[in-house]
Amino acid sequence: MLKICVLVSGGGTNLQALIDAINDKRITNAKIEVVISNNKNAYALERAKNNNIAAECISPKDFENRDIFYEHLKETIDSYKVDLIVLAGYLVAIPGSIVEGYKNKIINIHPSLIPSFCGKGYYGLKVHEGVLARGVKVTGATVHFVDDGTDTGPIILQKPVLVKQDDTPQILQRRVMEEAEWQILPKAVDLIANNKVTVTSDKKVMISE
Ligand code: GRF
Repeated sequence: MLKICVLVSGGGTNLQALIDAINDKRITNAKIEVVISNNKNAYALERAKNNNIAAECISPKDFENRDIFYEHLKETIDSYKVDLIVLAGYLVAIPGSIVEGYKNKIINIHPSLIPSFCGKGYYGLKVHEGVLARGVKVTGATVHFVDDGTDTGPIILQKPVLVKQDDTPQILQRRVMEEAEWQILPKAVDLIANNKVTVTSDKKVMISE
């Protein structure tokens, strides 16, 4: 049984997609052990509690400095003895100490087709604003392993979504979530939980189905 820690900052619709997929058995061999937010008002924490999942808030504001915050975050994650960390809308950068301790065991959902509209500064609505400003006709979402760069780790799954002429960033964000994120994040977790994902020495992901 794959034990998962989900890190969140906001509404938690991707967390909900994971909870629903575990309940529907679209994800097998996996259990969410804990949900941790940096923001005490994140609705994602309510979603965890409503589903009897341990929910913790670890905010950088409550610590003297960033290093102490990260130390505490890592100790808390370690204490749950998890096999996978899922970043589901987590707006805090993951430090090298956690990336090293969980090599190829941290995944992130990003709301664009990497390597477009990703990297520093591309988060939340800014991604979709960038897509509309450039006028691309196709966007989508990507699930990838987390390495020490920003959105640079091995790509596990991607799904395209069409951009429509009268889209606003908000409308496009919603369509990318519905048509891509809520599908490929649970799918990626199921593949990992069932040992179908390997990372090659040249950082490509191989999937056996
Ligand atoms: C999603 O768009 C995700 O791709 C991004 O942050 C957003 C989180 O939304 N990384 P939610 O909290 O899962 O509803």
